[in-house]
Amino acid sequence: MTQTSTPTRPGPSLPGRPKMLSHLAYVTHNVEGTVDFYERVMGMPMVSTVIGDRVPSTGDDFPYFHVFFRLADGSTLAFFEAPDLPPANPRGHPAYALFEHLAFEVDSVEIVDQWHEWLVSNGIDVVGPTDHEIIYSIYFQDPINDIRLEITTPMVENWNDRIEEAQRDLRIWTGVKNSAAEQNQPLREALMKYIQAERPDAHGETPA
Ligand SMILES: [Fe+2]
Repeated sequence: MTQTSTPTRPGPSLPGRPKMLSHLAYVTHNVEGTVDFYERVMGMPMVSTVIGDRVPSTGDDFPYFHVFFRLADGSTLAFFEAPDLPPANPRGHPAYALFEHLAFEVDSVEIVDQWHEWLVSNGIDVVGPTDHEIIYSIYFQDPINDIRLEITTPMVENWNDRIEEAQRDLRIWTGVKNSAAEQNQPLREALMKYIQAERPDAHGETPA
């Protein structure tokens, strides 16, 4: 067998990081209520819709209505309504309902506070404001869809540019998990012990 001398082609290279959030899509069981809430209460206009009888990416054949609401930066929040969908799977733990959420950024603490007033005047229960030191936030529930929402503003310029601290934190977190596993310690207790000893200010906050 003769050896061919095909030049080695370089593999694909990373095209760069994604530029912005185009859309985040959820299922809704009430598209009319969703349009009312996001347009009237959240101030996000409905800017695009798609009606189809099969999902283009997979070919699944069910009719659907797809709708996009636009934020000020051009990113969008999207929903799909399709007939006869059962409710989504129940969450396995109440923590999911707190941790999984969608946060909208505004320009200042004053504007977060204005949102608080506006939402309450629209009959929405609001939690907060919570000052997380790096961000200032309020939390509430999309009244139509089971989505926890947040309105937030950065309190420090570098809130989303703390790469070294993030890498250090990940190493520490992973280290505590690994040493708990090696020593056969319950993970929850090992993490609580670390947080209470090393992060005395970290407890008791509403999850960001
Ligand atoms: Fe958050």
